[in-house]
Amino acid sequence: MKRVMYPGSFDPATNGHLDVIRRASRIVDELVVAVARNNDKCPLFSVNERVALLNQICAQLPNVKVITFEGLLVDAVRELGITAIIRGLRAVSDFEYEFQMALMNRELNAACETLFLMPSPEYSFISSHLIREIASWRGDISAFVPPVVADAIYQKYEEKQK
Ligand code: PNS
Repeated sequence: MKRVMYPGSFDPATNGHLDVIRRASRIVDELVVAVARNNDKCPLFSVNERVALLNQICAQLPNVKVITFEGLLVDAVRELGITAIIRGLRAVSDFEYEFQMALMNRELNAACETLFLMPSPEYSFISSHLIREIASWRGDISAFVPPVVADAIYQKYEEKQK
């Protein structure tokens, strides 16, 4: 059974993430989408909120499971019997960081291979960081994130304003 992990911050998950999830789910037996617990000290969404949103947007993909992990990615991979890590590559600018991380992870765990998937070009400029910034100014993010995520972000910024 090929069980592959797609780790990330997903704060929040975007249409680009969902595109990578769909592509990966077609080529593996089980795709484990793994939300990192310790990445950002000041996230917009709590880890549980991010998991809940991912579960909603992946509801139609039966071989996708959403989990959280804490600590090193290579340790989570080892514990779960994961075959490989999937990462999305949007543009050349992503490459240097991703290449460095893939090689470091393989150095830490020789069995840990990283596979790169390119999202559709229409998503290549989308990032969670930009989505948060646009939404914080009440800009229109409807083309960049699933509707359930857009609603949750606007609600979050409204709560923050109170
Ligand atoms: O969505 P992101 O923020 O690009 O995801 C980065 C993530 C969570 C995959 C990366 O920061 C990570 O693996 N964090 C866990 C800690 C770890 O293993 N760090 C060493 C990486 S070489």
